[in-house]
Amino acid sequence: MADLTTSYLGLELKNPVVVSSSGITRNVEGVLRCADAGAGAIVLKSLFEEQIESEAEQEQEATEVSMHPEADDYIRQMGKHLGPDDYLALVEQAKKKTDVPIIASLNSRTTKWWGNYARQLEQAGADAIELNMSIMPRRFEENADQVERRYVNIVDKVRRQTSVPLAAKIGPFFTALPHFTTALRKAGVQALVLFNRFYQLDINIQTKKLAPGYMFSTPQEVYLPLRWISILHPEVGCDLSASTGVHTGTEAVKLLLAGAKTVQVCSTLYKNGIDRIATIRSDIERWMTEGGYETIDDFRGMLNQSQSGSPEAYERLQYIKALTGVS
Ligand SMILES: Cc1cc2nc3c(=O)[nH]c(=O)nc-3n(C[C@H](O)[C@H](O)[C@H](O)COP(=O)(O)O)c2cc1C
Repeated sequence: MADLTTSYLGLELKNPVVVSSSGITRNVEGVLRCADAGAGAIVLKSLFEEQIESEAEQEQEATEVSMHPEADDYIRQMGKHLGPDDYLALVEQAKKKTDVPIIASLNSRTTKWWGNYARQLEQAGADAIELNMSIMPRRFEENADQVERRYVNIVDKVRRQTSVPLAAKIGPFFTALPHFTTALRKAGVQALVLFNRFYQLDINIQTKKLAPGYMFSTPQEVYLPLRWISILHPEVGCDLSASTGVHTGTEAVKLLLAGAKTVQVCSTLYKNGIDRIATIRSDIERWMTEGGYETIDDFRGMLNQSQSGSPEAYERLQYIKALTGVS
């Protein structure tokens, strides 16, 4: 039987299928369902910076971040459902009830709150922390270097406060990803989660109002993390976890071949149910058995770009062929 164990963030995982942060993992029941379905590790729903701020503001009436009033209200309600104390309790409970590694997730925009809170998460038993960093650059006077510095400062701040393994979950929209991810690794992350899939903004043409876009991914979206994981592995020097577009074992195997340590699943669990974790795991196992691979390390990274001949020339040629219609 193929051995699916993998190391990730210094943890030993029984398989590389990780449940990514979402509403599915917002309570102990959801966590246990994922553990029962065979998840290799579980990332809890993110605690948002605003949830901590909201609680702090209630105590001292200080408004550091001015938000849309409707958003303020929403966040306050959200804080009541799962504030920072509840979140610590969720980590403790999850750790008590399952031996599957539990990764806490913080959504951070600034450096203000995270250092101290990250330490509390470590004390509550979190095996690792994923920093879910989705900074949307909107200021015209802020350049790329300044935006990147905000990310690095957050990592640096948290790193100084805690020794727990850290992952940075980032979006794909950076000009020089190899350079930027190296800066994050130097600031102290042990893993990068590529990529966060941002909230999609839509417009309703009947009501002429802004509306939320479609929430879930499709398997075709896997090409973005696939490309970047194959470029970054192994030079970036830390673990890579793939997020976006993993719906079946096929995407999972591709990402492992490109060099991923783990693959994260979310949309497919909403669409196909939590049991999809077990299906993906057994698909990987079957593929390994058919190919004669005993462990994941026997084939991990086999098709990263440094090992696949002249990837740049190959890609350029395919691009020219596609655009000129010549095959
Ligand atoms: C309903 C929903 C809630 C999510 N909540 C979070 C969250 O709290 N924190 C986070 O880092 N990502 C969150 N995500 C993003 C997912 O973790 C994941 O990165 C993204 O959906 C892409 O993966 P997928 O293609 O497997 O869905 C959420 C996604 C969905 C669909």
